[in-house]
Amino acid sequence: MKFTYYGHACFSVQIAGKNILFDPFITGNELAKHIDVNQVKADYILISHGHADHVADAPAIARNTQATIVSNYEIVSWFGDKHGYPKGHPMNHGGGWNFNFGKVKYVNAVHSSVLPDGTYGGNPGGFLLQSAEGNFYYAGDTALTWDMKLIPIFAGLQFAVLPIGNNFTMGIDDAVIASEFIECETIIGVHYDTFGYIKIDHQQAIQKFAERGRQLLLPKIGQTIEV
Ligand code: NI
Ligand code: MN
Repeated sequence: MKFTYYGHACFSVQIAGKNILFDPFITGNELAKHIDVNQVKADYILISHGHADHVADAPAIARNTQATIVSNYEIVSWFGDKHGYPKGHPMNHGGGWNFNFGKVKYVNAVHSSVLPDGTYGGNPGGFLLQSAEGNFYYAGDTALTWDMKLIPIFAGLQFAVLPIGNNFTMGIDDAVIASEFIECETIIGVHYDTFGYIKIDHQQAIQKFAERGRQLLLPKIGQTIEV
């Protein structure tokens, strides 16, 4: 599966010829100045929760690409009500849906969720994505949670995308435990370095995962990797 990192918690995967973009936050990210948001492709935009560092560029990218917004009911409704962009698929926790690229399940995250204008953003979540090309889990912004033990019951994972920046989400030590809860050996780290609160030591992070037999991948912003 092709995975492209756009900085912070924004990335896209290509499955079945579709571009699935997650948590678009590019123009507000000092580290992603070299990314042209108008060139970002999306057939679907999956949004984990309502915070600005996950939705800021979603209205513009949605209008550019005519992508379908997939998120919880409150966030999908906000795109319709506030942005006049009704092309969305609302979900809620524990629910799954078969799209034309694979199955998406909206799963628990322990965090908060309010939209940039103060609108209630529902409860925050993550996504489990299952497809003919493989399965992966994106945790969203979350603490380490016992609920992660449900993920390997639902599906075996090819890789997982976990926040590792600490302060607002799990840090490295808890993300290592999460990788064990979800029984996944290949982890892509996100939600680090963007702000002062979440700067990490890359080599130390890679080392801590390696000590538990896991590979932590930290692609560069704009880089596409095969996972
Ligand atoms: Ni957040
Ligand atoms: Mn965040």
